[in-house]
Amino acid sequence: MSLIDELKKIEEISIKKIEKAQSGDDLESIRVEVLGKKGSLTKILQRLGDFTAEERPVVGQEANKIKRAISDRLENRQQEIQLIDLEKVLSEETTDISLPGKWPRIGHQHILTQIIDEVTDIFLGLGYQVAEGPEVELDYYNFTALNTPPDHPARSLQDTFYINMKNKDGRPSKDDILLRTHTSPMQIRVMEENEPPLFYICPGRTFRRDVADPTHSPMFQQVEGFAVDKDITFGDLKGTLETFAKEMYGHDRDVRLRPHFFPFTEPSAEVDVSCINCDGKGCRVCSHTGWLEILGAGMIDPNVFKYVKIDPEKYSGFAFGMGVERIAMLKYKINDIRLFYENDMRFLAQF
Ligand code: DAH
Repeated sequence: MSLIDELKKIEEISIKKIEKAQSGDDLESIRVEVLGKKGSLTKILQRLGDFTAEERPVVGQEANKIKRAISDRLENRQQEIQLIDLEKVLSEETTDISLPGKWPRIGHQHILTQIIDEVTDIFLGLGYQVAEGPEVELDYYNFTALNTPPDHPARSLQDTFYINMKNKDGRPSKDDILLRTHTSPMQIRVMEENEPPLFYICPGRTFRRDVADPTHSPMFQQVEGFAVDKDITFGDLKGTLETFAKEMYGHDRDVRLRPHFFPFTEPSAEVDVSCINCDGKGCRVCSHTGWLEILGAGMIDPNVFKYVKIDPEKYSGFAFGMGVERIAMLKYKINDIRLFYENDMRFLAQF
């Protein structure tokens, strides 16, 4: 085969390969194979010196012509491939604007937050202020200053999550650090810092060493409320709670107070509202009593006033505390407290 034929053959094969190339990478490997340092065409050009003076210009010219032809073809094919790729991207990425849109899922307040806001609004309407305080609390505020000193029988060690106990033998002390078991310590914190008249509600998380079941949760929420002023009476407490119950549960609700005991109030009461399910006639929700317990309350014990240096001869006050989950459970007939904390959107999205 003459050299010219060899060159033509290289041209023919290269052009065929270029036509078939599908990507820039394919083209680059063809370029290297033919025109690269060790490429087939380059090798022939390197051998030009071996030819006679007559052959050299003929072969040289032909070789350069073919080199240019291959280079041109490579470049053209490169542009074609780019166009094809672009076409493909455009056709795949077109947006069908007639398809229905996707709505972003908009969040909303947790049911318990909504209840706290509702309770708060009712009391703001009665002229109360809101105060919040620490969940990690001193024994002094959680128990001692609430007239529940370390040896008091109303303390049950197993109910409390202790963070740090002062006594090595496990006896409680007013300096122990714990997770508050109720929001009542906020009474002490507010009364310590402020002069009467005081009208406050204090929502927040509380903790007890309970195993979770349909009616218990180791973490739950309460709203504390209290009023301290001259001449506050038990009648004021009853009127306030009646107003609250009617606002919260409906205007035809009745309220009754049953005698009870809390260390920090004297006298104390448990407060019931007529059953929202059966209107007081008696049903399964109210265990056929017609009444549902909604909170604990009472007149602030004079001993509590002594801890915060308020003169019990001059001032009196009432206090109450309610469980937020319990309010929500009664209101929406929810039968398992754990639902509030499982974050199942099928449950939460209903409220
Ligand atoms: N702290 C009580 C509890 O967690 C509830 C309570 C009862 C709060 C009577 C009060 C009150 O302020 O006066 O069970």
